[in-house]
Amino acid sequence: MRAISIPLPGGPEVLTLGEHPDPDPGPGQVLIEVAAAGVNRADVSQRLGHYPSPPGTSPLPGMEVSGTIVALGRGVVGRSIGDRVCALLPSGGYASLVVAEAALLLDVPDSMNLVDAAGLPETLATVWSNVFMLAGLRAGETLLVHGGSSGIGTTAIQLARAHGALVATTAGTDEKLAACERLGAVILINYRTEDFVERLLDATDGRGADVILDAIGGAYLDRNLNALAPRGRLAIIGNQSAARGTVDVRTLMSKWLTIHGSTLRARPSEEKAAIMASVRENVWPFVVAGQVVPVIDQRIPFAEAARAHRRLEASEHIGKLLLIP
Ligand SMILES: NC(=O)c1ccc[n+]([C@@H]2O[C@H](COP(=O)([O-])OP(=O)(O)OC[C@H]3O[C@@H](n4cnc5c(N)ncnc54)[C@H](OP(=O)(O)O)[C@@H]3O)[C@@H](O)[C@H]2O)c1
Repeated sequence: MRAISIPLPGGPEVLTLGEHPDPDPGPGQVLIEVAAAGVNRADVSQRLGHYPSPPGTSPLPGMEVSGTIVALGRGVVGRSIGDRVCALLPSGGYASLVVAEAALLLDVPDSMNLVDAAGLPETLATVWSNVFMLAGLRAGETLLVHGGSSGIGTTAIQLARAHGALVATTAGTDEKLAACERLGAVILINYRTEDFVERLLDATDGRGADVILDAIGGAYLDRNLNALAPRGRLAIIGNQSAARGTVDVRTLMSKWLTIHGSTLRARPSEEKAAIMASVRENVWPFVVAGQVVPVIDQRIPFAEAARAHRRLEASEHIGKLLLIP
């Protein structure tokens, strides 16, 4: 197969396209001929040497793909060769062939472009497990999404709106905020020119957000607590600013707040399977109905993978970047 490897950690130029042995599906796995691989910020961390593949999995980068099943491992039921699927992976997606756990597949409807479906598994599983399963966002509540034009953000806005929540979002440019508005966000905050806490409180009659989805981390910790409504929940999924922050515990106590944190990739397989089962049941119907769509920034050939990583690191994209074998 053709695949992109990381022979040594470094800049985007270390991504190396070459020939690798075809993988074999083990028990409970399928082999997928890849139509596209989603690019995630975690792939950049892996390329830099900070976030290796989980033990026992492919050392190649790539945490999500779409494609067609071309072989079945032992014990796989309910799947056939030729099925159009997208898959959540621990690693190995930057390849023309990849093995995936059958429990981590979603069926791509005929109405959806198979390539674009590669942009869904990682964001749907992350947003659903954090905003809904952990933080319990309900219809009528307000969600604040930091970085609304990101892969994660574009999914969070659509999913929250589809579930009847009011969505506020931050982004670094007005062009990105306009894209968030088209997806359904109604409170639009440029974090470079405005104080997001003040703007959110102004826009919600002083109440704030019921749930915040945050990938900024330490620098926003205290401000996020100030932006939460009573009984608000903060779901932290990243630390793009700093790993450490301060908390005024009086705010935490007096507003009865909850702070959650999680990573998806490192979860045990059974937990990932449970999340994907919940996505299949609760989220996928919105995808099939076209209410939640993959927002694709660019589809870039494998040979130009470095360009995709440069674009992501410069935050020039809106939505997902995809790599095409
Ligand atoms: N824990 C998990 O399980 C999990 C799973 C998936 C992703 N994540 C994390 O989620 C984040 C998004 O992932 P992605 O793949 O969607 O990446 P991405 O598309 O590159 O998004 C990064 C976003 O962060 C925004 N941002 C940067 N600094 C900001 C600030 N000070 N205030 C508000 N927004 C800011 C950027 O906004 P601008 O471009 O407007 O500056 C950009 O939209 C990453 O940190 C990733 O590691 C975590």
